[in-house]
Amino acid sequence: MYNYISFNEKIKSFKKKIEVSSDKSLSIRSVLIASQAIGISKISNLLKSEDVINTLKVIKKLGINYKFKENILEIYGYGLNGFNIKKNTIIDAGNSGTLARLIVGLLIKTSKKVKLIGDKSLSKRDFLRISKPLSLFGANIKLKNNSLPLEIEGTNFLRPINYIENKGSAQCKSTVMLAALNTPGITKIKAKKSRNHTEILFKQLKIPIKIKSKGKHDLIQVKGLHQFKSFNYDIPGDISSSAFFIVLTLLSNKSEIIIRRVNINKSRVGIIKILNKMNAKIRYKNRKIYKGEEIADIYVKSVKKFKPINCPSDLNSSAIDEFLVIFLIAAKANGISIFNNLNELNKKESPRLDIAIKFLSMIGIKTIRKKDNVKIYGNPNLKLNDNYVVKDFYKDHRVFMMSCIAALTFGGKWKIYDKDSINTSFPKFLKILKNLGAKLYWKKEKI
Ligand code: S3P
Repeated sequence: MYNYISFNEKIKSFKKKIEVSSDKSLSIRSVLIASQAIGISKISNLLKSEDVINTLKVIKKLGINYKFKENILEIYGYGLNGFNIKKNTIIDAGNSGTLARLIVGLLIKTSKKVKLIGDKSLSKRDFLRISKPLSLFGANIKLKNNSLPLEIEGTNFLRPINYIENKGSAQCKSTVMLAALNTPGITKIKAKKSRNHTEILFKQLKIPIKIKSKGKHDLIQVKGLHQFKSFNYDIPGDISSSAFFIVLTLLSNKSEIIIRRVNINKSRVGIIKILNKMNAKIRYKNRKIYKGEEIADIYVKSVKKFKPINCPSDLNSSAIDEFLVIFLIAAKANGISIFNNLNELNKKESPRLDIAIKFLSMIGIKTIRKKDNVKIYGNPNLKLNDNYVVKDFYKDHRVFMMSCIAALTFGGKWKIYDKDSINTSFPKFLKILKNLGAKLYWKKEKI
């Protein structure tokens, strides 16, 4: 049985205030870091999506208890390396690259072997990027074809490392930072700038950390073996989930939206900078700082004409999960947009650059790709009236949601498969679309 959503008409003009799901990166990090704290941490507004539920299942399997008391998650930590691991433990990260990578960083001191598995998409992704630095700490890690399943056996004889992270990957940086917690001495990291939630949380918890900005990199030092106390955290909304509604509003007719209480950390808002350069006038309201993170309401209204962009690659990391929807705006721009060095985009839940190019060609948008660089030939008069099917995209949640936005703004009749993929990051996505007035039909089809 296949499930698909069908769309037969564009969304009508809307004016609404919405709240998107809570931030996935912060949800996963707060659970993992609380698992290493001493005492009971209380996390409110945790994202209840499959990636985060899998994070909870994983820490439970490693001997950490938790309980939901209404909307508040309590995690009972026993301090650093406070896991209680049984023989032959297998942990399953499902679809989540962030969980899979970060958890291994916390396992470098365990005395028992742990095996990490994941779903079909995660099992194709690169884990050499974390096994290499973690082996230098002294952990013993085995991979299958550089990917999952991964086996780790920790050691009591850890040594701090000097690590250079050049991909702009927050997952790699954070994995090494978490490994540094259990390691005596000072771990030194030179990391190409990327989302810095782990750094901010470490600072909040008074974990000894020094950070210096040096050009395109951050120099980070973490002093290990510092026990820290449990904490309270209230997770704000996710800019990556907001992205779909930002682009929906920009491309719709005479519409306005306010997305409340979103994390607008500088290392995450590449999409806002890029779209504003393309003539969007996205504004922040009610800005405030919460535990080192900046939070605001995002105000967006429809735009008639978009300018093409020659996108500075410096913004790639801060917009890495948003390129699929940014490409929809490029498809409507008045000219050729250029995006370079998008190698990492093909290393996500699906090869997103390949998929985006196929998608754009399906809707009649010319692209020229040379390696990891792409030119998108925008068509400001883009109007679709054919039938379109979106299928076989490795169940990538962001491909599903991007396709829904295209269907609701470009016209045509659409069948978009694998609706359940949204449970990875944004379970209430379709509900919000309906509240904005989108007409969508959920169908089942026998094969
Ligand atoms: C994430 C980092 C990014 C991003 C992912 C979440 C994180 O991955 O694509 O969705 O929470 O650290 P990379 O670090 O591999 O770029």
